[in-house]
Amino acid sequence: MTAAGAVAASGEREDTSCFQCHSAQVQEFAKSVHYDRNISCTDCHGGDPHISGAAVSVSAMSTNFTGAPARINITETCSKCHSEVTGVYKESIHWKELEKGVTIAATCTDCHGVHGILPSTNPNSSANLENVPVLCAGCHENQTKMSAWYYGIKTDRFDTYKKSYHYKALLSGGKGLATCTDCHENHNTRNESDPGSAIYAANLASTCGKSGCHPGNSAVIYGGKVHEGQSVQLLSIDTKALVTYFYIAMILFELVFTLGLVGLDITSKFDIRRRR
Ligand code: HEC
Ligand code: HEC
Ligand code: HEC
Ligand code: HEC
Ligand code: HEC
Ligand code: HEC
Repeated sequence: MTAAGAVAASGEREDTSCFQCHSAQVQEFAKSVHYDRNISCTDCHGGDPHISGAAVSVSAMSTNFTGAPARINITETCSKCHSEVTGVYKESIHWKELEKGVTIAATCTDCHGVHGILPSTNPNSSANLENVPVLCAGCHENQTKMSAWYYGIKTDRFDTYKKSYHYKALLSGGKGLATCTDCHENHNTRNESDPGSAIYAANLASTCGKSGCHPGNSAVIYGGKVHEGQSVQLLSIDTKALVTYFYIAMILFELVFTLGLVGLDITSKFDIRRRR
């Protein structure tokens, strides 16, 4: 569609009911790929957009009006037009967890936005490759949302990724470098232990070996531990493990030492009493 065509269409739409009352959503919507494609509020919400002028009233929201979809039904709204992507997404851990009631698991609008959805090629899109690490980190690096003790997921995924060659090269303007979704997929994101997952140990050779990445080079696969493999390596000794052992030793030592002190304290009181 030409720019002129888009402007003509926008004039028509702005005169109709929904556009009269919901300026906040309209402002966002006017920037979106959907607006450019002549989609209207009613495609997602139902209602009657064909009322204009003095007749505009809340009754515009009566004909087939479905309101704002509940979080669990957002996929239904999008699948009207994106059924293929939705089908793929519904195989993912995000959908499976959401369906189970983990309300913070990612749905379409968490990654793409609601009214201001942009094509992922647009640098301002949250799903643009350059923005993907920050997008995923919004949940995966958030201790409160991800409380490891509850979901059992590590919250250092962005931190460990930041230490990687992939990220450093991406920051210095490198193109075609692996970001979260290159290894975890955009929509079919799965658990490491799922044989259908791109990060399932047996599938790593093909995930890392994608054309343009590391075809035929299995040496790049660091024992299947991409994030862990990025912990500091010193003279081929795993410093992270060393630090862990050091802390365990410290805690044990402190425990014995404190118990010892308490023991001495008790015996000393006992001694005083005996002398009296
Ligand atoms: C005369 C003004 C008016 C018109 C016209 C109007 N709305 Fe509304 N709309 C409101 C008000 C008031 C509310 C309730 C307060 C709120 O949620 O902002 C509302 C609420 C909504 C909600 C949220 C409902 C929910 O489930 O939480 C949606 C979605 C919505 N409108 C969409 C539309 C669409 C689509 C149209 C066009 C077909 C439209 N509105 C036309 C005034 C209007
Ligand atoms: C591509 C689908 C889509 C289109 C087009 C769309 N909306 Fe929405 N809208 C949604 C979804 C999904 C939600 C629920 C957001 C949530 O719960 O996070 C929503 C929520 C709303 C709400 C509730 C308040 C809010 O912002 O969450 C209003 C009001 C609303 N939309 C009005 C509109 C109006 C007016 C238009 C047209 C200018 C429009 N929408 C176009 C998908 C759409
Ligand atoms: C009424 C049909 C319709 C609905 C409903 C709809 N979309 Fe779209 N969407 C489109 C069309 C048409 C395009 C433009 C397709 C293209 O450029 O190839 C588009 C484009 C997109 C894009 C940009 C794709 C790209 O090229 O990067 C995203 C992301 C997107 N939609 C997400 C959503 C989400 C999320 C929802 C639900 C909240 C939704 N859409 C609901 C029709 C729809
Ligand atoms: C809105 C929050 C949110 C966003 C955004 C999000 N995720 Fe998730 N993700 C979750 C939740 C919640 C789970 C499910 C945790 C569980 O119970 O196993 C999950 C699970 C996962 C898992 C499986 C982990 C496991 O041990 O089960 C991977 C891999 C994953 N997400 C990758 C990503 C990637 C890559 C992105 C960015 C493209 C992303 N996520 C964006 C919330 C989010
Ligand atoms: C965890 C984040 C995440 C979730 C959840 C998600 N997407 Fe995406 N989506 C992406 C990313 C990242 C891209 C592609 C970026 C790229 O490769 O340029 C993408 C691409 C797209 C595209 C462009 C065309 C294509 O086939 O890749 C559409 C359309 C789309 N998503 C719609 C949806 C819909 C509809 C849902 C919900 C059913 C959804 N997305 C859920 C992250 C997500
Ligand atoms: C180069 C490929 C690659 C990149 C880039 C990457 N990951 Fe991973 N990710 C993996 C592999 C392989 C695993 C499983 C083994 C491990 O933990 O190292 C994994 C594990 C995970 C897990 C735990 C999954 C589970 O089932 O336990 C989450 C969550 C995750 N990554 C999120 C992210 C996020 C968020 C980003 C971006 C900030 C990212 N990953 C970037 C390859 C990658």
